[in-house]
Amino acid sequence: MDVMEELAESSEFNESKGPCLAFRQAASVLKSLPSAVRCLGAIQGLPWLGEHTKAVMEEILTFGRSFKVEEIRCDERYQALKLFTSVFGVGPKTAEKWYRRGLRSLKEILTEPNIQLNRMQRAGFLYYSDISKAVSKAEAEALGCIIEETVHWIAPDAVLALTGGFRRGKEYGHDVDFLLTVPEMGKEEGLLLHVIDRLRDQGILLYCDHQGSTFDVSKLPSCRFEDMDHFQKCFLILRLEEGQVEGERGLQRDPGDSRGWRAVRVDLVAPPVDRYAFALLGWTGSKQFGRDLRTFARKERQMLLDNHALYDKTKRNYSYRRLLRRTSLPIWVWSMWSLGREM
Ligand code: CTP
Ligand code: MN
Ligand code: MN
Ligand code: MN
Repeated sequence: MDVMEELAESSEFNESKGPCLAFRQAASVLKSLPSAVRCLGAIQGLPWLGEHTKAVMEEILTFGRSFKVEEIRCDERYQALKLFTSVFGVGPKTAEKWYRRGLRSLKEILTEPNIQLNRMQRAGFLYYSDISKAVSKAEAEALGCIIEETVHWIAPDAVLALTGGFRRGKEYGHDVDFLLTVPEMGKEEGLLLHVIDRLRDQGILLYCDHQGSTFDVSKLPSCRFEDMDHFQKCFLILRLEEGQVEGERGLQRDPGDSRGWRAVRVDLVAPPVDRYAFALLGWTGSKQFGRDLRTFARKERQMLLDNHALYDKTKRNYSYRRLLRRTSLPIWVWSMWSLGREM
């Protein structure tokens, strides 16, 4: 339900964390239903639907639209923040700052002399029309081939996996996510930098933000289980050529666009091989599914789960510390993964 996502976004702009999460959860539940909701009776007994959500759904089912949602859509602040945060590198804080300065359009930001854009934001504006266009599955697969070739040229025994929305079976995404590792512990350290160099040599690296690993195994037991992981990663913008994409539709682009290439956002993450299973689980998403899985681990299994490990609070150890094969993970992780996947 896109309406719930909009409400969640609007709450996020207002820094209302509770309502924001509630609307995202509601959106997830509604998406997981086999068919669209046609009457209020159909949502009785569903989990995670609170008073606000039900009120909005009642409005939609009765009047064919929600006045609250329409009010938000017309709101000047919501429109401006949505537009600004659609630029790669611009978060809610920067967007709010620009809004407070009276700026309302992207053009105004680019022509305002007192605004200092950082490198990421400059790339975000430069490739705005390309990276705000959805990436198709065919384009994701084409990028997969290019990166695979690059990676294997450097390390023949490396493992590359497509993650994110495309691993969940989505047809379109806002970027393409990959996980990358090597069988030998520690060897992944230099690999990512090599891959970046090689992509640059091939002339397809348009932008790169590399973040080194902040992962420290010796600190693991005391480390908080948090949202952001510590793996070495890079946020890229790559150039994808028309001839590289299979299928009749080829590149996703505007009708009049005759460049023969487009820019695509790509994330590469390089965990050490003994964390691979957890990294794969975390980076497959969705964000909401990851949240639910961590809540389930904590509340129903007295365990802590994040992108690095699964920690058993009752036994006070990492019972699943060095697991590489999915069959050795607790069955509930894998059953939830296959049952609960939502787009
Ligand atoms: N993720 C993560 N740690 C990060 C960033 C992302 O664990 N620092 C996870 C997210 O929770 C998400 C997955 O990696 O589940 C992919 O992130 P993202 O590309 O933002 O979302 P997708 O689900 O792939 O959706 P889209 O198609 O819009 O890219
Ligand atoms: Mn993605
Ligand atoms: Mn996303
Ligand atoms: Mn991503």
